[in-house]
Amino acid sequence: FQVPTPINEPILAYATGSKEREQLQNKLAELRAKQIDIPMYIGGKSVQGAQKVAMTCPHDHQHVLGYYYEGGKKEVGQAIDAALGAHAAWSATPWERRAAIFLKAAELSATQYRMDLNARTMLGQSKNAFQAEIDAACEWVDFLRFNVHYASQIYADQPISSPGVWNRVEYRALEGFVYALTPFNFTAIAGNLPAAPALMGNTVVWKPSPSQVYSAGLLMDILTEAGLPDGVINLVFADGPEAGDVVFNHRDFAGVHFTGSTAVFQTIWKNIGNNISNYKSYPRIVGETGGKDFVVAHPSAEPKALSVAIIRGAFEYQGQKCSAASRAYVPASLWPKVEAYLKEDLAAIRMGGTEDFGNFVNAVIDAKAFAKISGFISDAQQDADVTVVAGGNCDDSKGYFVEPTVLLTKNPKSRTMVEEIFGPVLTIYVYPDAEWKQTLALVDETSAYALTGAIFAQDSYALEEAKAFLVNAAGNLYLNDKCTGAVVGQQPFGGARASGTNDKAGSYLNLLRWVSPRTVKEVF
Ligand code: SER
Repeated sequence: FQVPTPINEPILAYATGSKEREQLQNKLAELRAKQIDIPMYIGGKSVQGAQKVAMTCPHDHQHVLGYYYEGGKKEVGQAIDAALGAHAAWSATPWERRAAIFLKAAELSATQYRMDLNARTMLGQSKNAFQAEIDAACEWVDFLRFNVHYASQIYADQPISSPGVWNRVEYRALEGFVYALTPFNFTAIAGNLPAAPALMGNTVVWKPSPSQVYSAGLLMDILTEAGLPDGVINLVFADGPEAGDVVFNHRDFAGVHFTGSTAVFQTIWKNIGNNISNYKSYPRIVGETGGKDFVVAHPSAEPKALSVAIIRGAFEYQGQKCSAASRAYVPASLWPKVEAYLKEDLAAIRMGGTEDFGNFVNAVIDAKAFAKISGFISDAQQDADVTVVAGGNCDDSKGYFVEPTVLLTKNPKSRTMVEEIFGPVLTIYVYPDAEWKQTLALVDETSAYALTGAIFAQDSYALEEAKAFLVNAAGNLYLNDKCTGAVVGQQPFGGARASGTNDKAGSYLNLLRWVSPRTVKEVF
């Protein structure tokens, strides 16, 4: 049978004076007033590693939210053993039973834990209430519900039979354990990377980013409360390369589900390659990595819509989305208007802590990110080809604050036009109107990454032309819209080239990577 298509979890507005705003503010105050200890969770048991690590608030870095206790090779080994120990029973559990657990987790997340998920994402990852809501509440819940729908489609897809012969395909789990390595920037992605393979009958070792442990601990609690059996998902905290040493050398390593940097993904791929003859099966390698996402405007584009899309695409969540707009190509005839709109709107934007819901921009994730992003900005300020149109100031005295920064460059191949910054920095190249086609060629040529892109034009022929020309430059292409905010079930998400394996999170294509089908022919 097939599970009908769910509806997306409705987004709460958190309007001034609304009940949900009050509830979220109360939860923020409650969390700020206490410190939470987050243990690892291995084989159904809480495990405390030797290394005590403080979790701090990026927009108020002296504020300690709690502690987690990092383990090492020993705990990673224990997590692998627990995953392998749980494999036989879990993979043999009827899929509807597995699905019921994840649907219950969706229900718990959408209702009683919604404010807690959002508040932890706001304090631990410095994401504002509206950005937290579309991530930790809606996208996470959507992943869980849509995964069940897509899994049902996969299981229902069966070959033809004939009189006296019954053919069928069993969508088995992979043989071994799956390693989920998850990012700080989306609570939903952090939860989905272990949850998707687990739904398909796999058992998982999950290592979240150190900067997302505060909300990862709650995701694990919710899955446990929903009835996930011991050992199906094992949460470990460890140094990445140290954990990788244990995982990628293990004979039963069956696959990795990764979202993070291109450099780390390439290291993982090399490690797996070096060990390939030691594994029982060829591991599945599924990764969503970096982006250098473009906005390209045709002379017929509507300048206000373009400016709004640039601001939202580049600066929501401080540009810390792999989908974030980070380079824009604007025709000379539109630039004076676009420049004026950008300056005016950015001047009105407020930056600060997430507790004040009026702050559109919050802090970047940590000191390392702050140093990298502010370094990019100061290098650009020294560059004779670059002018700062807006922003440019950085201040880490209380939190890791980087002003939304718009740069204008004369060189379309300058560093800030080609390298991923992963912060609130957007670089604009103004091209002569007559060079629309050359500009499309330039966009493609400088797309080493190919995750998202947006094309703005009111001339529909130009839209089609750009869409055809940039066929390989983005896995998610937006026509007259911002290039972020893919919704599960609506815009399956992922890119190719250096951006990943394009196995489309939030679609059956992703779930297919977590099964190893067996074809059975029976003759009567
Ligand atoms: N899915 C997110 C977006 O589209 C990025 O991971 O913005």
